[in-house]
Amino acid sequence: MTILVTGATGQLGGLAVRHLLDRVPAGDLAVSVRDAGKAADLAARGVAVRRGDFADPASLDFAGVDTLLLVSADGPDDLRIAMHANAIDAAERAGVRRVVYTSVVAADTSPLALARVHVATERRIRASGRAFTILRNGLYHENYTAGLPGALDRGALVTATGEGRVASVARDDLALAAAIVATGDGHDGRTYELTGDRAWSFDELAEAAAEVAGKPLPHKSVSGGELRAGLLAAGLPEFVADLLADIDAGIRADALSTVRPDLADLIGRAPAPVEQAVRAAL
Ligand SMILES: NC(=O)c1ccc[n+]([C@@H]2O[C@H](COP(=O)([O-])OP(=O)(O)OC[C@H]3O[C@@H](n4cnc5c(N)ncnc54)[C@H](OP(=O)(O)O)[C@@H]3O)[C@@H](O)[C@H]2O)c1
Repeated sequence: MTILVTGATGQLGGLAVRHLLDRVPAGDLAVSVRDAGKAADLAARGVAVRRGDFADPASLDFAGVDTLLLVSADGPDDLRIAMHANAIDAAERAGVRRVVYTSVVAADTSPLALARVHVATERRIRASGRAFTILRNGLYHENYTAGLPGALDRGALVTATGEGRVASVARDDLALAAAIVATGDGHDGRTYELTGDRAWSFDELAEAAAEVAGKPLPHKSVSGGELRAGLLAAGLPEFVADLLADIDAGIRADALSTVRPDLADLIGRAPAPVEQAVRAAL
Protein backbone atom coordinates (compact mmCIF):
# COMPACT_ATOMS: atom_id res chain seq x y z
CA MET A 1 0.00 0.00 0.00
CA THR A 2 2.30 2.74 -1.22
CA ILE A 3 1.83 6.33 -0.09
CA LEU A 4 3.60 8.78 -2.40
CA VAL A 5 4.36 12.35 -1.32
CA THR A 6 5.13 15.20 -3.73
CA GLY A 7 7.04 18.30 -2.59
CA ALA A 8 8.98 16.04 -0.22
CA THR A 9 12.13 18.13 -0.61
CA GLY A 10 10.10 21.15 0.49
CA GLN A 11 9.15 22.11 4.01
CA LEU A 12 5.58 20.79 4.40
CA GLY A 13 6.16 17.64 2.34
CA GLY A 14 9.42 16.94 4.18
CA LEU A 15 7.70 17.20 7.57
CA ALA A 16 4.83 15.02 6.32
CA VAL A 17 7.29 12.30 5.28
CA ARG A 18 8.86 12.43 8.75
CA HIS A 19 5.44 11.91 10.36
CA LEU A 20 4.66 9.14 7.88
CA LEU A 21 7.91 7.37 8.79
CA ASP A 22 6.64 7.32 12.42
CA ARG A 23 3.53 5.48 11.22
CA VAL A 24 4.41 3.11 8.37
CA PRO A 25 7.53 1.21 7.23
CA ALA A 26 9.79 3.18 4.88
CA GLY A 27 9.18 0.51 2.24
CA ASP A 28 5.55 1.66 2.02
CA LEU A 29 6.61 5.22 1.20
CA ALA A 30 7.67 6.90 -2.01
CA VAL A 31 8.39 10.53 -2.90
CA SER A 32 8.24 12.31 -6.23
CA VAL A 33 10.80 15.12 -6.36
CA ARG A 34 12.44 17.38 -8.94
CA ASP A 35 15.93 16.79 -7.60
CA ALA A 36 16.58 13.27 -6.34
CA GLY A 37 19.88 14.46 -4.82
CA LYS A 38 17.90 16.56 -2.31
CA ALA A 39 16.11 13.37 -1.18
CA ALA A 40 19.26 11.29 -0.60
CA ASP A 41 18.53 11.12 3.15
CA LEU A 42 15.10 9.62 2.42
CA ALA A 43 16.55 7.10 -0.04
CA ALA A 44 19.05 6.09 2.66
CA ARG A 45 16.14 5.40 5.01
CA GLY A 46 14.50 3.10 2.45
CA VAL A 47 11.98 5.51 0.92
CA ALA A 48 11.61 5.06 -2.87
CA VAL A 49 12.68 8.27 -4.60
CA ARG A 50 11.16 8.95 -8.03
CA ARG A 51 12.13 11.96 -10.10
CA GLY A 52 9.14 14.00 -11.18
CA ASP A 53 8.44 17.58 -12.25
CA PHE A 54 4.82 18.75 -12.41
CA ALA A 55 5.77 20.84 -15.44
CA ASP A 56 6.88 17.72 -17.33
CA PRO A 57 3.88 15.32 -17.42
CA ALA A 58 5.91 12.39 -18.80
CA SER A 59 8.17 12.51 -15.73
CA LEU A 60 5.34 11.86 -13.27
CA ASP A 61 5.33 8.19 -12.30
CA PHE A 62 2.68 7.23 -9.77
CA ALA A 63 2.52 3.52 -10.70
CA GLY A 64 1.58 1.25 -7.79
CA VAL A 65 0.54 4.16 -5.58
CA ASP A 66 -2.50 3.75 -3.35
CA THR A 67 -2.53 7.24 -1.79
CA LEU A 68 -1.00 10.30 -3.44
CA LEU A 69 -0.29 13.18 -1.04
CA LEU A 70 -0.26 16.02 -3.54
CA VAL A 71 1.44 19.04 -1.96
CA SER A 72 0.55 22.14 -3.96
CA ALA A 73 3.42 23.68 -5.92
CA ASP A 74 4.35 27.35 -6.03
CA GLY A 75 4.63 29.81 -8.92
CA PRO A 76 2.28 32.01 -10.94
CA ASP A 77 -1.38 30.96 -10.60
CA ASP A 78 -2.04 29.68 -14.14
CA LEU A 79 1.14 27.61 -14.07
CA ARG A 80 0.17 26.10 -10.71
CA ILE A 81 -3.26 25.13 -12.03
CA ALA A 82 -1.68 23.46 -15.08
CA MET A 83 0.97 21.68 -12.99
CA HIS A 84 -1.58 20.34 -10.51
CA ALA A 85 -3.73 19.12 -13.42
CA ASN A 86 -0.68 17.30 -14.81
CA ALA A 87 -0.26 15.53 -11.46
CA ILE A 88 -3.92 14.52 -11.32
CA ASP A 89 -3.79 13.27 -14.94
CA ALA A 90 -0.80 11.14 -13.94
CA ALA A 91 -2.72 9.81 -10.91
CA GLU A 92 -5.58 8.80 -13.21
CA ARG A 93 -3.23 7.13 -15.69
CA ALA A 94 -1.56 5.15 -12.91
CA GLY A 95 -4.83 4.11 -11.27
CA VAL A 96 -4.02 5.84 -7.96
CA ARG A 97 -6.88 5.04 -5.56
CA ARG A 98 -6.91 8.22 -3.47
CA VAL A 99 -5.61 11.78 -3.75
CA VAL A 100 -4.99 13.86 -0.62
CA TYR A 101 -4.46 17.50 -1.62
CA THR A 102 -3.16 20.49 0.35
CA SER A 103 -5.54 23.32 -0.52
CA VAL A 104 -6.12 26.65 1.22
CA VAL A 105 -8.52 27.39 4.05
CA ALA A 106 -12.06 28.27 2.92
CA ALA A 107 -10.96 27.90 -0.72
CA ASP A 108 -14.51 28.14 -2.08
CA THR A 109 -15.44 31.39 -0.30
CA SER A 110 -12.03 33.01 0.19
CA PRO A 111 -11.44 36.50 -1.27
CA LEU A 112 -7.73 35.64 -1.69
CA ALA A 113 -6.60 35.62 -5.34
CA LEU A 114 -4.58 32.46 -4.71
CA ALA A 115 -7.78 30.55 -3.85
CA ARG A 116 -8.49 30.30 -7.60
CA VAL A 117 -5.64 27.79 -7.95
CA HIS A 118 -7.05 25.61 -5.22
CA VAL A 119 -10.68 25.84 -6.37
CA ALA A 120 -9.58 24.72 -9.86
CA THR A 121 -7.44 21.89 -8.45
CA GLU A 122 -10.13 20.69 -6.04
CA ARG A 123 -12.59 20.62 -8.97
CA ARG A 124 -10.11 18.66 -11.11
CA ILE A 125 -9.62 16.14 -8.29
CA ARG A 126 -13.39 15.68 -7.85
CA ALA A 127 -13.68 15.03 -11.61
CA SER A 128 -10.86 12.48 -11.57
CA GLY A 129 -12.95 9.61 -10.23
CA ARG A 130 -10.36 9.04 -7.48
CA ALA A 131 -11.26 8.92 -3.80
CA PHE A 132 -10.01 12.18 -2.31
CA THR A 133 -9.45 14.18 0.85
CA ILE A 134 -9.00 17.94 0.70
CA LEU A 135 -6.81 19.48 3.40
CA ARG A 136 -7.63 23.18 3.35
CA ASN A 137 -4.55 24.46 5.11
CA GLY A 138 -4.56 27.71 7.05
CA LEU A 139 -1.68 30.14 6.72
CA TYR A 140 1.51 28.96 8.40
CA HIS A 141 2.64 30.66 11.63
CA GLU A 142 6.11 30.52 10.10
CA ASN A 143 5.12 32.89 7.26
CA TYR A 144 5.00 35.59 9.93
CA THR A 145 7.58 34.49 12.48
CA ALA A 146 10.38 34.05 9.91
CA GLY A 147 10.45 37.82 9.38
CA LEU A 148 10.62 38.73 13.07
CA PRO A 149 14.44 38.85 13.42
CA GLY A 150 14.59 41.30 10.49
CA ALA A 151 11.70 43.34 11.90
CA LEU A 152 13.51 43.57 15.25
CA ASP A 153 16.67 44.75 13.46
CA ARG A 154 14.70 47.40 11.56
CA GLY A 155 12.72 48.43 14.67
CA ALA A 156 9.22 47.83 13.27
CA LEU A 157 6.95 45.04 12.08
CA VAL A 158 5.52 46.41 8.84
CA THR A 159 2.35 44.84 7.40
CA ALA A 160 -0.81 45.95 5.63
CA THR A 161 -3.03 43.94 7.97
CA GLY A 162 -4.47 46.79 10.10
CA GLU A 163 -6.38 45.38 13.04
CA GLY A 164 -7.12 42.13 11.17
CA ARG A 165 -6.61 38.74 12.76
CA VAL A 166 -5.43 35.40 11.38
CA ALA A 167 -6.03 31.89 12.74
CA SER A 168 -2.67 30.62 11.50
CA VAL A 169 -1.22 27.14 12.07
CA ALA A 170 2.18 25.57 12.71
CA ARG A 171 3.39 24.01 9.45
CA ASP A 172 4.34 20.89 11.40
CA ASP A 173 0.78 20.45 12.70
CA LEU A 174 -0.48 20.55 9.09
CA ALA A 175 2.15 17.96 8.12
CA LEU A 176 1.04 15.76 11.01
CA ALA A 177 -2.60 16.06 9.93
CA ALA A 178 -1.60 15.12 6.37
CA ALA A 179 0.25 12.02 7.62
CA ILE A 180 -2.71 11.00 9.81
CA VAL A 181 -5.14 11.37 6.90
CA ALA A 182 -2.82 9.57 4.46
CA THR A 183 -2.50 6.57 6.79
CA GLY A 184 -6.03 6.50 8.21
CA ASP A 185 -9.49 5.40 7.14
CA GLY A 186 -12.70 7.38 7.09
CA HIS A 187 -11.34 10.43 5.28
CA ASP A 188 -12.58 9.71 1.76
CA GLY A 189 -14.72 12.52 0.36
CA ARG A 190 -13.95 14.79 3.33
CA THR A 191 -12.80 18.39 3.20
CA TYR A 192 -11.04 19.62 6.34
CA GLU A 193 -10.60 23.29 7.25
CA LEU A 194 -7.31 23.33 9.15
CA THR A 195 -6.90 26.47 11.26
CA GLY A 196 -5.29 27.39 14.54
CA ASP A 197 -7.50 27.57 17.63
CA ARG A 198 -7.06 31.33 18.08
CA ALA A 199 -6.98 34.28 15.71
CA TRP A 200 -4.24 36.74 16.61
CA SER A 201 -3.53 40.30 15.46
CA PHE A 202 -0.19 41.66 14.29
CA ASP A 203 -0.11 44.04 17.29
CA GLU A 204 -0.17 40.87 19.42
CA LEU A 205 2.50 39.19 17.29
CA ALA A 206 4.78 42.23 17.66
CA GLU A 207 4.16 42.27 21.43
CA ALA A 208 4.99 38.56 21.72
CA ALA A 209 8.21 39.05 19.73
CA ALA A 210 9.19 42.11 21.81
CA GLU A 211 8.72 40.11 24.99
CA VAL A 212 10.93 37.24 23.78
CA ALA A 213 13.58 39.57 22.31
CA GLY A 214 13.54 41.96 25.28
CA LYS A 215 13.27 45.02 23.06
CA PRO A 216 10.34 47.05 21.74
CA LEU A 217 8.75 46.12 18.41
CA PRO A 218 5.92 48.37 17.22
CA HIS A 219 3.55 47.08 14.54
CA LYS A 220 3.20 49.59 11.71
CA SER A 221 0.33 48.96 9.29
CA VAL A 222 0.74 50.62 5.89
CA SER A 223 -1.47 50.60 2.80
CA GLY A 224 -1.43 47.58 0.47
CA GLY A 225 0.21 49.74 -2.23
CA GLU A 226 3.00 50.82 0.13
CA LEU A 227 3.60 47.23 1.22
CA ARG A 228 3.75 46.01 -2.39
CA ALA A 229 6.18 48.81 -3.34
CA GLY A 230 8.41 47.92 -0.39
CA LEU A 231 8.44 44.24 -1.34
CA LEU A 232 9.31 45.05 -4.97
CA ALA A 233 12.07 47.40 -3.80
CA ALA A 234 13.42 44.52 -1.68
CA GLY A 235 13.75 42.47 -4.88
CA LEU A 236 10.74 40.14 -4.65
CA PRO A 237 9.21 38.99 -7.97
CA GLU A 238 6.02 40.84 -8.89
CA PHE A 239 3.76 37.79 -8.47
CA VAL A 240 5.09 37.25 -4.95
CA ALA A 241 4.63 40.93 -4.00
CA ASP A 242 1.07 40.78 -5.35
CA LEU A 243 0.38 37.54 -3.47
CA LEU A 244 1.67 38.89 -0.14
CA ALA A 245 -0.17 42.21 -0.47
CA ASP A 246 -3.36 40.33 -1.33
CA ILE A 247 -3.00 38.06 1.71
CA ASP A 248 -2.51 41.08 3.98
CA ALA A 249 -5.66 42.64 2.47
CA GLY A 250 -7.51 39.39 3.25
CA ILE A 251 -6.28 39.48 6.85
CA ARG A 252 -7.21 43.17 7.17
CA ALA A 253 -10.74 42.26 6.01
CA ASP A 254 -10.83 39.49 8.66
CA ALA A 255 -11.27 36.84 5.97
CA LEU A 256 -8.71 34.51 7.61
CA SER A 257 -9.77 34.73 11.25
CA THR A 258 -12.34 31.93 11.43
CA VAL A 259 -11.38 29.19 13.90
CA ARG A 260 -12.42 25.63 13.02
CA PRO A 261 -12.11 22.45 15.12
CA ASP A 262 -10.97 20.10 12.31
CA LEU A 263 -7.23 20.26 12.99
CA ALA A 264 -7.49 19.54 16.71
CA ASP A 265 -9.94 16.72 15.93
CA LEU A 266 -7.47 15.15 13.46
CA ILE A 267 -4.28 15.46 15.52
CA GLY A 268 -5.95 14.76 18.88
CA ARG A 269 -4.64 17.85 20.68
CA ALA A 270 -4.75 21.63 20.53
CA PRO A 271 -2.77 23.08 17.61
CA ALA A 272 0.57 24.67 18.54
CA PRO A 273 0.06 28.38 19.35
CA VAL A 274 1.81 31.15 17.41
CA GLU A 275 3.84 32.08 20.51
CA GLN A 276 5.66 28.74 20.17
CA ALA A 277 6.69 29.65 16.62
CA VAL A 278 7.76 33.12 17.82
CA ARG A 279 10.09 31.55 20.39
CA ALA A 280 11.47 29.13 17.77
CA ALA A 281 12.16 31.99 15.36
CA LEU A 282 14.02 34.22 17.83
N1 LIG B 1 -0.43 27.74 3.98
C1 LIG B 1 0.57 28.61 3.79
O1 LIG B 1 0.80 29.54 4.57
C2 LIG B 1 1.46 28.46 2.60
C3 LIG B 1 2.58 29.29 2.49
C4 LIG B 1 3.41 29.13 1.39
C5 LIG B 1 3.11 28.17 0.44
N2 LIG B 1 2.02 27.38 0.59
C6 LIG B 1 1.67 26.33 -0.38
O2 LIG B 1 1.93 25.09 0.25
C7 LIG B 1 2.96 24.38 -0.46
C8 LIG B 1 3.87 23.69 0.53
O3 LIG B 1 4.44 24.65 1.39
P1 LIG B 1 5.96 24.58 1.79
O4 LIG B 1 6.15 25.49 2.90
O5 LIG B 1 6.39 23.16 1.92
O6 LIG B 1 6.64 25.18 0.45
P2 LIG B 1 8.11 24.84 -0.10
O7 LIG B 1 9.04 24.55 1.02
O8 LIG B 1 8.44 25.96 -1.03
O9 LIG B 1 7.89 23.51 -0.93
C9 LIG B 1 7.27 23.51 -2.17
C10 LIG B 1 7.56 22.17 -2.81
O10 LIG B 1 6.92 22.15 -4.09
C11 LIG B 1 7.84 21.56 -4.99
N3 LIG B 1 7.60 21.99 -6.35
C12 LIG B 1 7.55 23.24 -6.83
N4 LIG B 1 7.39 23.22 -8.16
C13 LIG B 1 7.38 21.92 -8.52
C14 LIG B 1 7.29 21.24 -9.76
N5 LIG B 1 7.20 21.92 -10.91
N6 LIG B 1 7.29 19.90 -9.76
C15 LIG B 1 7.41 19.19 -8.60
N7 LIG B 1 7.51 19.78 -7.41
C16 LIG B 1 7.51 21.12 -7.38
C17 LIG B 1 9.18 22.07 -4.52
O11 LIG B 1 10.22 21.26 -5.08
P3 LIG B 1 11.78 21.58 -4.82
O12 LIG B 1 12.09 21.01 -3.46
O13 LIG B 1 12.45 20.88 -5.95
O14 LIG B 1 11.93 23.07 -4.87
C18 LIG B 1 9.06 21.94 -3.03
O15 LIG B 1 9.39 20.65 -2.60
C19 LIG B 1 3.65 25.45 -1.32
O16 LIG B 1 4.23 24.88 -2.48
C20 LIG B 1 2.48 26.36 -1.64
O17 LIG B 1 1.68 25.83 -2.68
C21 LIG B 1 1.20 27.49 1.67
